[in-house]
Amino acid sequence: MDKRKLKRAAELIDRAGHILVFAGSGLSAESGIPTFRGEDGMYSNPDVLRYAHADALREEPEAALAWFQKMRDMIDDYEPNPGHYALARICAERDCTIATQNVDRLLESAFLREGLTKEGIWHLHGSLFRSRCDVCDEPLEEPPTDYTAAECDECGGIIRPDVTLFGEMLPEAPYLRAQGAAHVADVVLLLGTSGIVYPAATIPGLARSHGAKLIEINPNPTELSEIADVVIRGKTGEVLPEIDRLLA
Ligand code: OAD
Repeated sequence: MDKRKLKRAAELIDRAGHILVFAGSGLSAESGIPTFRGEDGMYSNPDVLRYAHADALREEPEAALAWFQKMRDMIDDYEPNPGHYALARICAERDCTIATQNVDRLLESAFLREGLTKEGIWHLHGSLFRSRCDVCDEPLEEPPTDYTAAECDECGGIIRPDVTLFGEMLPEAPYLRAQGAAHVADVVLLLGTSGIVYPAATIPGLARSHGAKLIEINPNPTELSEIADVVIRGKTGEVLPEIDRLLA
């Protein structure tokens, strides 16, 4: 790991009035959850391509809901990794907006287990651990234990995870929050994302155009590397703990 770049990243974070975290599936990769693209990525599984499309919910709702149930149960078994914990420690005492494209809840778990609090982690593509009615959009306080057997109390519609499927719009509130943070952030942490999925991927460029410094942590080059001010080639589970140590 390049010590100079780590130090530069820590200095920028330390001086920042506001920090925006823009995270992707690479942040959860060391927990064991595959990223989307690449050889062993989620998208090499035909079931993911089939059921992650809004059409599947309309055309074969029972199969789609059974698949969502399986995905949620599987993802629920994973644990936060050192990257999640370090990020929680870095953000807890600082003015920081976290906008993640991930649908897991590993960051929330990391904050909880570190005994730290965070007012909202904004899920740009929704969360597998929240649910809503597919017909009337009514959110549920607690996701059902079994999606295949649940129906909406208000209208009888099917209950689905509150995630963004292909063919659907992003939820508005997290996107607006991320955009707002991009206007005021001094530093953006680009963590484990290829930065190719729009409109979420407009956020880093927006922050940069408002003067933010961009720090990318990723073992591989991405679409965002070119506009990053500091590029650290490494895994978030290894790099973030180093930065956290420098900040302590
Ligand atoms: P991708 O699969 O496109 O990219 C994952 C990124 O993580 C790559 O740039 C990897 O190099 C990097 N990576 C892998 N392991 C890492 C590690 N240990 N530490 C740091 N980085 C690592 O996944 P996303 O960028 O998250 O959208 O994809 C964005 C969106 O595309 C997802 O939210 C999803 C998908 O379509 C929806 O579900 C709507």
